[in-house]
Amino acid sequence: MEIAVVGAGYVGLVSSVCLAKIGHHVICVDVDQEKVRQLKLAKVPIYEPGLEELLKECLANKRLTFTTSIKEATKKSIAIFIAVGTPSKMNGDADLNYVENVARQIAVNMDSYKLVIEKSTVPAETGKRVKRTIRLNLPRKYMKDHKAAFDFDVASNPEFLREGSAVHDFMNPDRVVIGVESKKAEKILRDIYKPLKPKMIVTDINSAEMIKHASNSFLATKISFINTIAQVCEHVGADVLKVAEGMGYDKRIGRNFLDAGVGYGGSCFPKDVDAFIRLSERSGYDYRLLKEVRRVNEEQRKSFLHLIEDKMWIVKNKVIGILGLAFKPNTDDIRSAPAIDIITILQSEGAKIKAYDPKAIPNAQQVLKGVTFAKDPYALAKGCDCLLVLTEWDEFKNLDFNKIQLSMKQAIVFDGRNLYQDKDLDSLGFEYYGVGRKML
Ligand code: NAD
Ligand code: UGA
Repeated sequence: MEIAVVGAGYVGLVSSVCLAKIGHHVICVDVDQEKVRQLKLAKVPIYEPGLEELLKECLANKRLTFTTSIKEATKKSIAIFIAVGTPSKMNGDADLNYVENVARQIAVNMDSYKLVIEKSTVPAETGKRVKRTIRLNLPRKYMKDHKAAFDFDVASNPEFLREGSAVHDFMNPDRVVIGVESKKAEKILRDIYKPLKPKMIVTDINSAEMIKHASNSFLATKISFINTIAQVCEHVGADVLKVAEGMGYDKRIGRNFLDAGVGYGGSCFPKDVDAFIRLSERSGYDYRLLKEVRRVNEEQRKSFLHLIEDKMWIVKNKVIGILGLAFKPNTDDIRSAPAIDIITILQSEGAKIKAYDPKAIPNAQQVLKGVTFAKDPYALAKGCDCLLVLTEWDEFKNLDFNKIQLSMKQAIVFDGRNLYQDKDLDSLGFEYYGVGRKML
């Protein structure tokens, strides 16, 4: 099928490449000229495992092309995915400026039937607004008696991929959700995803949009829940890892998303929780449960900082080594990463920060000032008064802890991801603090 994808970010680029891989002809549009130039040369502007190889393959077999022209993309395709950003406004609302802009541009370039599909995460009822925007902006020459000479459909197809495993998630979806208003739209979307043989959930547009809100809110709630359990574990001398394991074997609960730590970050959970709270408020429901989820997440970082301040005694002029800057492993994304907040607060208290991350240093250099970036974990540890683990990269799991211990000024580790849960760092000469574990 001829498909256009508008937006070449994490979701748009991964979707474009994967849709081309499963046999479609995809034209991917972005306003960022430099990004499009790089993509045409098979250079991926983000770190996402497996993406560059697939991009090369799909460019070579000519199933994927890139452009900055939404006009060209609209004319050449029947299905058009909108995958642009929906960031938070100051008040927490989703900013739909990019979505509206794209809807208008698609409309003015339409000359035959198109299915316009929201893939960006948007508040419920956005589909209705997209449809109205397109209707109002269709070229006048195609209007007859105030009706368009051809029809079009709007559909919702929320995306559930995770950064760091985006290609795998797109190719092996737990489910594909489609919100549609016509059989024609349903058939097109079923045909698009057919090669993946997914479990399809077909519903109306509002319900599809709600499934995305509810899924991200539930996952964020699960993380905050285990973080509250971690807090109590610390007070009563229990181990949150054993508690999560014990809970996780219950099939109704499941072990996933029960990792206590420094709280959730990233470009999605924080903004999507805010947006759902705002949407609920506007519709007359005070979503106190989600407000608490958000508060617990903020408190979790603060509590980790209190632990550091308590155990370090004096933070001023201490050299603090940061292992991990990305908001999770296998990505270079630092949007709302716990590490960025924690570093900024420690700097404001006079700490000297050194940092290392396998992939996120270039992005971190854009936002952090006065940080010394190390070339590997050993260079990082040298001369540090303590180490903070803020992203659980595989690369950090099996370090030579003897070497690290000997090179540090004070051998203290604050493990914000419980990465070294099995390592017994105490016996290797470290003072070791995890999250939700027994405190010394
Ligand atoms: P992103 O910021 O990485 O990418 C957005 C892209 O859209 C940018 O490249 C930008 O230049 C482009 N863009 C903006 N306006 C445009 C226009 N008028 N025409 C063409 N291109 C335009 O965003 P993202 O992380 O890919 O997220 C996109 C949406 O998908 C968001 O709503 C997000 O919540 C949702 N989502 C993200 C993820 C994820 O893991 N990142 C997962 C599921 C859903
Ligand atoms: C999340 C969802 O998992 C995806 O399904 C969804 O498509 C995406 O948001 C989105 O809507 O954009 P992502 O943010 O890429 O994906 O990554 P996650 O693996 O969900 O992690 C999010 C944050 O939660 C990370 O900071 C991670 O460290 C944290 N987390 C995750 C925990 O603190 N504990 C856990 O048990 C799991």
